[in-house]
Amino acid sequence: MGTFSGKVALVTGAARGLGRVTALAFAREGAKVVVTDIDEPGGEGTLRLIQEAGGAGLFIRSDVGVESDVEAMVSKTVEAYGRLDCAVNNAGVVRFQPIVEETAESFDFHVDTNLRGVFYCMKHEIRQMLKNGGGAIVNQSSITGSLTGNPGESVYAATKGGVDGLTKSAALEVAKYNISINAIAACGIDAPGDVFHQWMEKEKISPEAAGNLFPIGRMGKAEELTGAVLFLCSDQARFIVGHLLVVDGGWIAR
Ligand SMILES: NC(=O)c1ccc[n+]([C@@H]2O[C@H](COP(=O)([O-])OP(=O)(O)OC[C@H]3O[C@@H](n4cnc5c(N)ncnc54)[C@H](O)[C@@H]3O)[C@@H](O)[C@H]2O)c1
Repeated sequence: MGTFSGKVALVTGAARGLGRVTALAFAREGAKVVVTDIDEPGGEGTLRLIQEAGGAGLFIRSDVGVESDVEAMVSKTVEAYGRLDCAVNNAGVVRFQPIVEETAESFDFHVDTNLRGVFYCMKHEIRQMLKNGGGAIVNQSSITGSLTGNPGESVYAATKGGVDGLTKSAALEVAKYNISINAIAACGIDAPGDVFHQWMEKEKISPEAAGNLFPIGRMGKAEELTGAVLFLCSDQARFIVGHLLVVDGGWIAR
């Protein structure tokens, strides 16, 4: 029996990177996992890994920036499993670009997935959780946003700061209905395929050299991220409301 046996957990952007490791962690802990993404081969690949490890779940193609997709994502989850207990709004995009070269198209690209997507997901997940009588939502934010800035990430940072605002206010609206909403600000997690790895490959930086950039002296393990996400989704975390939990090997503390 895992911590999430009998529960239904949905993860957006679960075709690779942090979303994939989160989906696999829920499955290991006994949840039925709804893997969602716009990347169908990647999403099916995550589902296959879950099933090969003895877990259960399904893949639903859904673009978080399209409200009808998100509404269908939640209703298909309920058709299959009858409820939705945990949702991790993880889908996100980033393009590194100085602000003077940013375009309206790139601004919309970031906002549609990172901010509008989290808004649509929260809206429809919360509607279902109110019917369930409770639930937990974790939004994948970033240290770049309301905590710190980063050159080349102005628009991305604006969307993640927006996610932090959505998280806090929505959390206050629904806390008394047994629904917890929190966010994670991760950095430097060793999850192959994620944005941090893409940056390491581009800059030709080894995992060891990247690890030395962090006060802890190494990169984070996937289970150090998923441990935080699953904790915030667990019954032990129900008194934590509207919190932004930093999981970054000390980057921000420094
Ligand atoms: N990796 C890091 O170091 C890091 C640091 C801080 C925050 N984050 C955040 O964590 C989340 C995951 O990051 P990652 O590095 O694993 O990213 P990633 O690019 O590896 O994975 C993102 C996933 O989201 C999916 N996706 C993109 N747009 C979508 C849409 N409109 N609808 C549905 N799915 C969509 C992609 O297909 C992909 O599978 C993002 O929100 C990111 O901003 C990551």
